[in-house]
Amino acid sequence: MTDSGSGSTALRSAYLASLRRSDEGRSLRLAGWIHRRRDLGGLLFFDLRDRSGLLQVSIGPDWTDPESLEIANTCGHEDVVRVEGEVVVRPEANPEMATGEIELRATKVERLSAADTPAIPVYRGPEDELPSEELRLRHRVLDLRRPELQANLALRHRLVLATRVYLDRIGFTEIETPILTKPTPEGARDFVVPSSVHPGEFFALPQSPQIYKQILMVAGFDRYFQIARCFRDEALRADRQLEFTQIDVEASFVGVEDILGWMEGLMVELAQVGGIPAPQPFPRMTWDEAMDRFGSDRPDLRWDIEIADWTEALRDIDFRVTKSAVEAGGRIRGFRFEGGATLSRKQIEAVEEHAKKAGAPGLLWAKRTDEGGSGPLSRFLDESHWAALGAQPGDLLLAAAGPDAMTSPALDAVRAAAIEALGIPKVQDHSWLWVTDFPVFETAEDGSLASNHHPFVHPRAEFVDTIQDDPLAARGDAYDLVYNGTELGSGSIRIHDPALQRRIFRLLGLDDDEIDRKFGFLLTALAAGAPPHGGVAFGMDRIVQRFADAPSLRDVVAFPKTTAARALFEGAPVRLADADLEALGLVVAAPSEGDA
Ligand code: AMO
Repeated sequence: MTDSGSGSTALRSAYLASLRRSDEGRSLRLAGWIHRRRDLGGLLFFDLRDRSGLLQVSIGPDWTDPESLEIANTCGHEDVVRVEGEVVVRPEANPEMATGEIELRATKVERLSAADTPAIPVYRGPEDELPSEELRLRHRVLDLRRPELQANLALRHRLVLATRVYLDRIGFTEIETPILTKPTPEGARDFVVPSSVHPGEFFALPQSPQIYKQILMVAGFDRYFQIARCFRDEALRADRQLEFTQIDVEASFVGVEDILGWMEGLMVELAQVGGIPAPQPFPRMTWDEAMDRFGSDRPDLRWDIEIADWTEALRDIDFRVTKSAVEAGGRIRGFRFEGGATLSRKQIEAVEEHAKKAGAPGLLWAKRTDEGGSGPLSRFLDESHWAALGAQPGDLLLAAAGPDAMTSPALDAVRAAAIEALGIPKVQDHSWLWVTDFPVFETAEDGSLASNHHPFVHPRAEFVDTIQDDPLAARGDAYDLVYNGTELGSGSIRIHDPALQRRIFRLLGLDDDEIDRKFGFLLTALAAGAPPHGGVAFGMDRIVQRFADAPSLRDVVAFPKTTAARALFEGAPVRLADADLEALGLVVAAPSEGDA
């Protein structure tokens, strides 16, 4: 009989690592991969592996039949075998193995499949390093046999399951939305799919189900969710994949508090599955406060290091850099690191490099010493300045001067680099934070107005009437969930008034023709009687990665893409044959010099 829990099937009696000393004397048929084999002159030992773990199998002329002995002698690593025999207690237990007290004494060995010599070893001794990631991704089938990856994907399954159970419990219905869609504006480039029925026309893969979920609200579904696959053709970083999974949520007749309350409940349940503490209520901070205190909209509060505003304290110093910054309306902001003067000039310059990479021309720094001070900023500081900044001998000051838009990202980078360089201890291991009231707009690189998130964010009530006159001042009913400095999710209350939605599109530089062409279907839907609504989407991959403490998103996805946007295992993307291009009505102007 098949029993999903114990592993018993038509071909085997149990999962290998489910066996214990209490199973002594049982006659069993077991199956798995040969993880490791050892030949002790006539006596053979296999560590057999299945998804549950490992079990030692012993094979010897005194108890194994001759044909089986012959098979066992020719079996190699990663062959798939079935063994029959009796569970016996080992003379000497192996405390490293969950099943280390017992072994299966095999009377019969059957080879179910032969394996080629593995291109990367699945068995790793304690000293053996992982092969390079590129090699592992090329041989993903072998890499996926690693217990870490098996555990990550099992955790992912349990998190997805818990999500569905929780959302179902509070009245949400899972509804699938199309994969072949019209472009959605989430800020990345669309993956497009040519239509062979309509040559020259293209579908886009969804960057998110955003517009569809809003339309589902207008259609009266009230509470929707979806474990949704999203696709974004964007530059890959450690926390991004070309395709990823969202927990996508939308609800009608709600305010910010409804969404935050429900979603905090979801996170608490997921954290429980992941074994991560998530004490409620999660702290909250407005976007303006986060930028002011940490220079980032996703501050990592595991460290209590905060930016101080030294504009007043240093307004009068005769330093060209700070003077011109303040005169131009900027601020002087920085960090005081207690005892930080231990950093060498070289180390401080390394921290400065981070500030420069984040867009600052340089870093202003000073060390307070018993004799006075050192460092470029210290020349301008007298006793009253040191006192105003609260600097004691042994302290280090790191500062930036200029408009917040420049200094905030620089100080965020400085904070992280200095925390690392100084080895500053954490004040907590798990930092949960809602950042709220995001700006509706930001300035794009070309100086035009762009959405800070997407164009559907409802401005906070007090900005609805003034948004045209001062769009950059407008704050939205928009929020992010941040865990240990990573944005796990993002959402907002949406615009449900088609006239306001059109005004926002116009502010973004779209003319009415373009608005109707791109978003006519949304505006028509909103004009059909739209309930006030709002929602959120969490990155499932990021949640699993964080909870599993995995080095990369690639470690929580079965078949990920590389940072060079390739699938190495299956070998994608590929060029199309001329005949296929022709059938789709496509001509490739300049084939890339790729290795596909
Ligand atoms: P947003 O674009 O912020 O919002 O995405 C929501 C969450 O999805 C995850 N995420 C990613 N994960 C892996 N790889 C990527 N390339 C990637 N991009 C995003 C992040 C992020 O917080 N429709 C809106 C949500 C809404 O307003 O309801 C949206 O997609 O964890």
